Amino acid sequence: MAQSQVPVGASGADEAHISAHWKEEEYYDPPKQFVEQANLNDPRVAEKFGEKNFPKCYEEYADMLTWFERWHTVLDSSEPPFWKWFVGGKLNVCYNCVDRHLAKYKNKAALIFVPEPEEDSIVAITYQELYNRVNEVAAMLREFAGLKAGDRVTIHMPMIPELPITMLACARLGVVHSVVFGGFSGEACGLRAADSGSKVLIYADSYYRSGKLIDHKMLSEIAVQTAEREGQAIEKVLIWRRFPGKFNSASPMVQGRDYFVDEALKMFRGRKIDPVHMDSLAPLFLMYTSGTTGKPKGCQHSSGGYLAYAAGTSRYIQDIHPTDVYWCMADIGWITGHSYIVYGPLALAATSVIFEGVPNFPDAGRPWRIAERLDVNIFHTSPTAVRMLRKAGPDEPKKYHYHFKHMTTVGEPIEPEVWRWYYSEVGKREAVIVDTWWQTETGGFLCSTKPALDPMKPGSAGPGVPGIYPVILDEMAKEIPAGAGRAGNICIRNPWPGIMQTIWGDPQRFVRQYYQKYCKNPESKDWRDWPYFAGDGALLAKDGYFRILGRVDDVINVAGHRLGTKEIESACLTVAEVAEAAVVPVVDEIKGRMPEVYIALKPGTSTPPGEVRDKVVHTIETMIGKIARPKTVRIVPDMPKTRSGKIMRRVLAAISNNMNTGDITTLANPDIVEQIRVAVQGEGPVATREGPEDVKTFGSVE
Ligand code: WTA
Repeated sequence: MAQSQVPVGASGADEAHISAHWKEEEYYDPPKQFVEQANLNDPRVAEKFGEKNFPKCYEEYADMLTWFERWHTVLDSSEPPFWKWFVGGKLNVCYNCVDRHLAKYKNKAALIFVPEPEEDSIVAITYQELYNRVNEVAAMLREFAGLKAGDRVTIHMPMIPELPITMLACARLGVVHSVVFGGFSGEACGLRAADSGSKVLIYADSYYRSGKLIDHKMLSEIAVQTAEREGQAIEKVLIWRRFPGKFNSASPMVQGRDYFVDEALKMFRGRKIDPVHMDSLAPLFLMYTSGTTGKPKGCQHSSGGYLAYAAGTSRYIQDIHPTDVYWCMADIGWITGHSYIVYGPLALAATSVIFEGVPNFPDAGRPWRIAERLDVNIFHTSPTAVRMLRKAGPDEPKKYHYHFKHMTTVGEPIEPEVWRWYYSEVGKREAVIVDTWWQTETGGFLCSTKPALDPMKPGSAGPGVPGIYPVILDEMAKEIPAGAGRAGNICIRNPWPGIMQTIWGDPQRFVRQYYQKYCKNPESKDWRDWPYFAGDGALLAKDGYFRILGRVDDVINVAGHRLGTKEIESACLTVAEVAEAAVVPVVDEIKGRMPEVYIALKPGTSTPPGEVRDKVVHTIETMIGKIARPKTVRIVPDMPKTRSGKIMRRVLAAISNNMNTGDITTLANPDIVEQIRVAVQGEGPVATREGPEDVKTFGSVE
């Protein structure tokens, strides 16, 4: 590392001292039967992907793809931080995920769709049938909707196979898709459509969620109005019907604008469309994500670099073989679904399961029944889902005869306590676990253990994955060494093929947000001067494992002493009665901020509330110290959650600080917010005042 450019004594020096009170957890070795069959079991990988071989090492990932023309330059870094991978190469992403598998696997399931109603039949779509359907949709998009390479299209759909089919059809034509998570509002969709300049919206009329058929087409009306208000005219809205021929929405079809896809497709039966030869650098998709402030930003991902990275990490970290039945329970509307339900697994000719419903409906045994029925052997989910399933049905997994060889956790730090339940109960001590840390911006995994090569350590993501060189920097841009016991900002020293290309329409924001903070010399053409700032706090242990503490805005500064909220939450979860915990900063006259703890109890708990509160306080004090003593411990019936399952700490922070909770309409359970608010703030009128910035933005992950 070059030395810091920031003068010593600049303001913020003390800010670097995020105290860390994690205790070191025990190691678990990968099961022998996993190691024997693993894709990546050669310990020389560290050297192969070492800095001496960078960036050439990534040719191995690009070689997993089929190119129409080979690249001439692996990495062009002449215009930092706009990295260009596999320059000169031409490929088609759809061809790589579908066509090229036909010779060997045409009769094998590409997608298995599990509808939410348990009595409905499961549908397997073979690679041959995926090829047929993608071609027909591509023909329709080109000839009926008038889309061509480079155009953007906004897709607002739930978890049905027509979603990946539509995405692949776009990729076949070189049309840039922007998928908006189905749980977002029409307004959110409209804003994104306007930002991307989409003239066509693609919707589904309805879908099942928690036992109800939800009217989704209704949202398209608001989306169109919102986009138009923003100056973007929508020419066509294409509606997939959940049941072809049967329209399930109260929202009327607008003549000359709204069309049923199943009807439009009739003109294109059996049509085949040549995959367009796209430049490696051509954008494949946009994915909007929230920063801590400002409007959502469209992360633009490339065709060649992105797909190579998704395929490479799927093979080595997810350990996907074509014979595996792989189930990632995320939603395709998030980056996890793009990279690790659709593009990565299909590039490797895997069988990828798509589940329409929620994990705990009709009961917490549903995921395990699906796993048993389909003989799933790779399972991928989030800590929130694990916590939810642990709370609702701690003994459910053992009732079902499935066997996972591999499990993933992603999206948030996982508390060691929860990790151990995942390992012993869900994985039955037979499965290896990877805790993969990454972001919408990064296209694929950044930190994780290599499943057959590195021991697991609960609560730690692990080292950088092959070819990724992470580092922890303090506010002075000084490296915090391994084992220092201090946290800082985790950065990646080098570019990698999956990194986003830019923020759509706002390259300056891209530079500002991710590179400005630690750029050593804005004139430099050397990638070593451009570390990527991820926006997460992390700790590097002596063994080289990174432990992610959460967004840097999830840190509570108590009396000038920083505490990771995740540490406190993790402590709470070791209390036997506690099922879920969320910690938020509450303004304190003397100490600045103090942590406030929200907990949800396991069902059937009979311990009196006062006793549970005392136990929680005592545990925090013993595991972390008096400095972390919460101002209040509040017991709530449930946590406010996004539809993707993340606990909305921002909403809790607002309630704790007597502030307005803001827009909560996109939450999975908005009613709970009012219940908690009344319990905390009393029956009085809803607060309207604004709070300090750190409380407002606290934990504002969508
Ligand atoms: C957090 C999701 C701890 C982190 C793929 C990051 C994690 C944000 C982990 C990105 C993990 C993701 N351990 N924290 N294994 N994975 N995060 O863009 O704070 O939805 O910055 O991408 O999730 O969320 P995003």
